Amino acid sequence: MDSIIVTGGAELSGRIPIAGAKNACLALMPATLLSDEPLTLMNAPRLSDIKTMTLLLQSLGVEVTAMQEGRVLTLSSHALSSHRADYDIVRKMRASNLVLGPLLARTGHAVVSLPGGCAIGARPMDIHITGLEALGAEIELRDGYLHAVARGGLRGAVIEQRFASVGATENVVMAATLAKGTTVLKNAAREPEIVDLVHCLRAMGARIAGEGTGTIEIEGVERLGGATHRVVADRIELGTYMIAPAIAGGEVELLGGRRELLPAFCEKLEAAGVTITQTNDGLRVARANGRVHAVDVKTEVYPGFPTDLQAQMMALMCTAEGVSVLEETIFENRFMHAPELMRMGARIEVHGGHATVTGVERLRGAPVMATDLRASVSLILAGLGAEGETLVNRVYHLDRGYERVEEKLSACGARIERVRGE
Ligand code: EPZ
Repeated sequence: MDSIIVTGGAELSGRIPIAGAKNACLALMPATLLSDEPLTLMNAPRLSDIKTMTLLLQSLGVEVTAMQEGRVLTLSSHALSSHRADYDIVRKMRASNLVLGPLLARTGHAVVSLPGGCAIGARPMDIHITGLEALGAEIELRDGYLHAVARGGLRGAVIEQRFASVGATENVVMAATLAKGTTVLKNAAREPEIVDLVHCLRAMGARIAGEGTGTIEIEGVERLGGATHRVVADRIELGTYMIAPAIAGGEVELLGGRRELLPAFCEKLEAAGVTITQTNDGLRVARANGRVHAVDVKTEVYPGFPTDLQAQMMALMCTAEGVSVLEETIFENRFMHAPELMRMGARIEVHGGHATVTGVERLRGAPVMATDLRASVSLILAGLGAEGETLVNRVYHLDRGYERVEEKLSACGARIERVRGE
């Protein structure tokens, strides 16, 4: 297993290209199941999660061709050979459950393993199931798999989600594109990745309105065609790298960054004393002067503060002036980075969904353990400003969601290197 060594103290200066959004691409790829014509995705990120989704789709009979070193993916599901998503793949990546809606809509049949829990929570699928059953699917849980059938196809319905689940919104919207009649999905998720998926589905011939609001209306059509779609910029990668100069000092320009992808996050960073300027090429970010100030953060569904940036914000608050309280409302166990940051000298008290951080002058490098995707990058960010060396183990978590993080940061002057494991 590879590790990453960060030697803190270097100010950052330079430009970082922001890749296509992992969480958009993981929903766009299963959309190919809705049509027997090719779907081409441009600006695809080169991540292990994308490789996992590729393997899953290929196991269903989808042909996937990667070009331009994986930045362009062409997917074709003209001849599906299976409708079963195996536990072995699903347990590694929960987003595998996004084949459920499209498979049901296209073939009337899907057998998808329940993902099982992951480091940050139990990850149930009740909202997905309720929505798809409202469209007429019969879904039964047997031997750890969801067995779903849609005898005579799906039909439109009015659905109100108990929680604005991102994945459930994506599954229901994709399924509804081929249902008979109109579907109104209330309390739908509003994330930019949902908007990007709808733009792609519309290019394939779907009739959808309301994306980005809490109510999405889908008028079912007979069939969908192919399309070419450019994956939206990854707002979580963007936010992650915006924190780097805030911790290490200096100024960095994030190419492809747009403020409207992260409204609440940008507000919080500016309140903490970080300057953010929209340029023609992206977002320029710098720490105003000296230490940032402590600010309180509460994670919420979009357009609120993203849960996927909570760990990175905590890393920044560890050396802020004052006390900050971070409240995690989306996942039940998403503070596993806290004990690792405490090994670096951070002062953090976790009580249930709240973490209280008392800022210290500077952290000290230490060997730390990555536990999940966003926690692992928060440790690297903390290491940029720490005294001495930070060794982050198990960086396979990192490679799920960040392309070449050590290259992007070292290009801006960070002292960071990857140590190949056995
Ligand atoms: C997506 O996960 C993202 N993953 C997550 O990013 C992100 O943290 C999450 O949305 C919230 O923004 C992808 O897009 C591939 P949810 P998803 O359904 O769809 C509960 C990352 O780091 N819930 O909005 O699984 C659930 O347990 C990953 O890139 C139910 O109770 O998120 C969680 O507590 C991590 N029942 C909350 O809702 C359900 O049926 C949010 O889940 C579904 C969800």
